[in-house]
Amino acid sequence: MSKYKAAITGVHGYVPDYILTNHELETMVETNDEWIVSRTGIKERRILKGEGKGTSVMGIEAVKGLLKKTNTDPLDVDLVICATVTPDHVFPATANLISDGAGLTNAFSFDIGAACSGFIYALTTGAMYVQSGMYKKVIVVGADKMSSIIDYTDRATCIIFGDGAGAVMLEPTEEEVGVMDSIHKSDGSGVEYLRMKAGGSKHPATIESVQNREHYVFQDGKTVFKFAVTNMADYAEKIMQRNNLKSEDVAWLVPHQANKRIVDATANRMGIGDEKVMMNIEKYGNTTAATIPLLLWDYENQLKKGDNLVLAAFGGGFTWGAVYVKWAYNPE
Ligand code: UT7
Repeated sequence: MSKYKAAITGVHGYVPDYILTNHELETMVETNDEWIVSRTGIKERRILKGEGKGTSVMGIEAVKGLLKKTNTDPLDVDLVICATVTPDHVFPATANLISDGAGLTNAFSFDIGAACSGFIYALTTGAMYVQSGMYKKVIVVGADKMSSIIDYTDRATCIIFGDGAGAVMLEPTEEEVGVMDSIHKSDGSGVEYLRMKAGGSKHPATIESVQNREHYVFQDGKTVFKFAVTNMADYAEKIMQRNNLKSEDVAWLVPHQANKRIVDATANRMGIGDEKVMMNIEKYGNTTAATIPLLLWDYENQLKKGDNLVLAAFGGGFTWGAVYVKWAYNPE
């Protein structure tokens, strides 16, 4: 057993100013506010506007805020991991651009691509570097500019997604707090149900791929929904059992915000009431890798040292899993 745990010692988020409401979407595709709210729980989402602005713009803002809040000298940061499916470029990594933009010149950085489960995969990875004693300050970012890969003529996807970024600081502690346990899984046979077909090495960009709208997210919503409900709930339950956590021991469920109905099903299986479920899907929609850090940011003032949190996610790949975190600090 490692001497250290990886404690989350700060969290910060960034969402762009522009608010895309359900009513504005009604003017773009055949949909309506009542359908969107009742089927997903979403009322509005944020969109990053402006020529030449990529995901790193939001990641940099989230990291700068995190450095300020945690009183961290940028030169002391050892590692930055960014979970994203909307990197600024195929390469270099968006994490490198974030490090550069936030002045983290002593850090090394890399991206993790696990779609909506990206943040929990990255959190587990970052925690390993801290628990091993190798590094003292690791920043984990979840950031996505989903509006760059969404087809705003496809009502099945454009109503769900939004843009945003969140970041946490991980530091070693000898106390029994921090990232306590993680369970992750992936299944590549899910590729056909949720993916962006073109733009990778298999189908590089061509005039036809653009004309066929293959550079946008394709989602077979019904199938994804079924897999998400089963796997998020299974893994949340699994991590509770493995750590002898009963529903009354869990202070908060921190679920990926894909659809309120998926979250409700997961909470139900865990025996957890609405009052212990973090939710902000109504104002941000599904920001892919950013949903979980944005929840932690929104709820930070309600979290107390020692609170047991179960983070759970499901996403494209398919990827899924759950992370058990014991919160490491009290509100200011
Ligand atoms: O985060 C990554 C993983 N992603 C997810 O977890 C998303 C999982 N899937 C979902 O959240 C849901 O499947 C959606 C929100 C995408 C769709 O909800 P649904 O309840 O599964 O709807 P559906 O696709 O079964 O469609 C039901 C009906 C259809 O009409 P008919 O065939 O019954 O006449 C659709 O054409 O609703 C229609 N529909 C819409 N109506 C108004 C589909 N999209 C819309 C829309 N507005 N935006």
